[in-house]
Amino acid sequence: MLESLRSVVSLKPIERDATKRRLGSAANIEDLRAIAKKRLPAGVFDYIDGAAEDELAMARNASRFSDRTLVPRVLRDVTTIDASVEILGRPAPMPLIIAPTGFPRIAHPEGELATARAAAAHGIPFSLSTMGTRSIEEVADVSNGPKWYQVYVWRDRELTKDMLERCKARGYEALYITVDTAVLGRRERDVRRGMTLPPKIGLDTFIEGAMRPAWVWEFLRAEPIVFSNVAVSTARLNKGTEDGASAVTLAEYVNSQFDPGLSWDDVAWIRSQWGGPVILKGIQSVADAKIAASEGIEAIALSNHGGRQLDASPAIIDLVAPVADAVGGQTEIYCDGGVRRGSDVVKAIALGATACMIGRPHLYALAAGGEAGVNHMLDFFQSGIEQTMALTGVAAIADIDRSAINDPH
Ligand code: FNR
Ligand code: LAC
Repeated sequence: MLESLRSVVSLKPIERDATKRRLGSAANIEDLRAIAKKRLPAGVFDYIDGAAEDELAMARNASRFSDRTLVPRVLRDVTTIDASVEILGRPAPMPLIIAPTGFPRIAHPEGELATARAAAAHGIPFSLSTMGTRSIEEVADVSNGPKWYQVYVWRDRELTKDMLERCKARGYEALYITVDTAVLGRRERDVRRGMTLPPKIGLDTFIEGAMRPAWVWEFLRAEPIVFSNVAVSTARLNKGTEDGASAVTLAEYVNSQFDPGLSWDDVAWIRSQWGGPVILKGIQSVADAKIAASEGIEAIALSNHGGRQLDASPAIIDLVAPVADAVGGQTEIYCDGGVRRGSDVVKAIALGATACMIGRPHLYALAAGGEAGVNHMLDFFQSGIEQTMALTGVAAIADIDRSAINDPH
């Protein structure tokens, strides 16, 4: 008996690579988040993880996904599952996009370079933020995959224009205009901690740093974190020192630099300067989706900025069906906020989305394991989408419609 048991049970080899060991224990995004929480100084983790005011919008984003159920159909041949789609005319193996986020280098010294490489390896679009910490050119040097750029519109329009020219020169394929940040939302975790960006290495960071030695070591060793995209354009235009090299609170910086006067006329101006596909990111109503579609905007991203702006904004998944009913077929519809599993993506597609975007999941993954972490996270989404499709009885994305979801509204 013991002999026969011994023949089927064997010892698992010990994984010597610490990163692989860490990632091997991460079964989902919540696990990656827990690893990130252990590795990052609390102020850095809270900047990434936190949201506005009571964080209700962030909680609703997640709970409205989990409230919904799919309609599993059985006895349909699901031997071959194909999760591929076209996003802005370009094929992708799954309907997923890396959302633009500020300051990825506070999560990991490589920052956007690691994420852009992983996105390219998975064939999905990578989005670089105006508040990014790697430049348009540095990202283009490491990635041949689809690259999109996100603009916040600076009070100084010359800066915005210069960034667009740099993106065109380096083959960026699409441009987001983020429209939900007329002023910065009140992130109360950051208020409490007096969080500055880049983080100041003050006494409290050092005290905490004793418990997060790997992060502090990397932070001190790496070149200083700056708003790389702003820095390059201010230098090109001889605009002085507003390059983000000095620590400020994000609220002060955004409220002094971003233009709260942004309107549909500015969108038209940016489109004329850009000449390629534009995504309006931060649409949160059917009314605005209709204006965007009537203006001929190529794509809208339904988003409440992961709950980081207006805390009283609706859960994003609740907007997908009404917006798809109003403007589906006229413009592509992406959505983000609380997408944490392949099943969330399938639910959004069933309600009428073209693709989903992910913000925090890639930052948690970056903190947990750099490029390997982001690859691990993207594998999790790819297999999660395919497994959900198989268990729902749909073999291709085009076959997923409202009949695949209960309570479509
Ligand atoms: C963001 N987001 C964001 N959006 C944007 O257009 N420009 C930006 O610079 C940033 N910066 C940023 C930083 C951090 C730390 C986070 C978490 C988010 C919003 C982002 O693109 C996306 O809309 C949300 O993150 C989606 O929600 P989830 O996936 O984080 O729940
Ligand atoms: C944020 C800004 C950078 O959400 O968009 O923190």
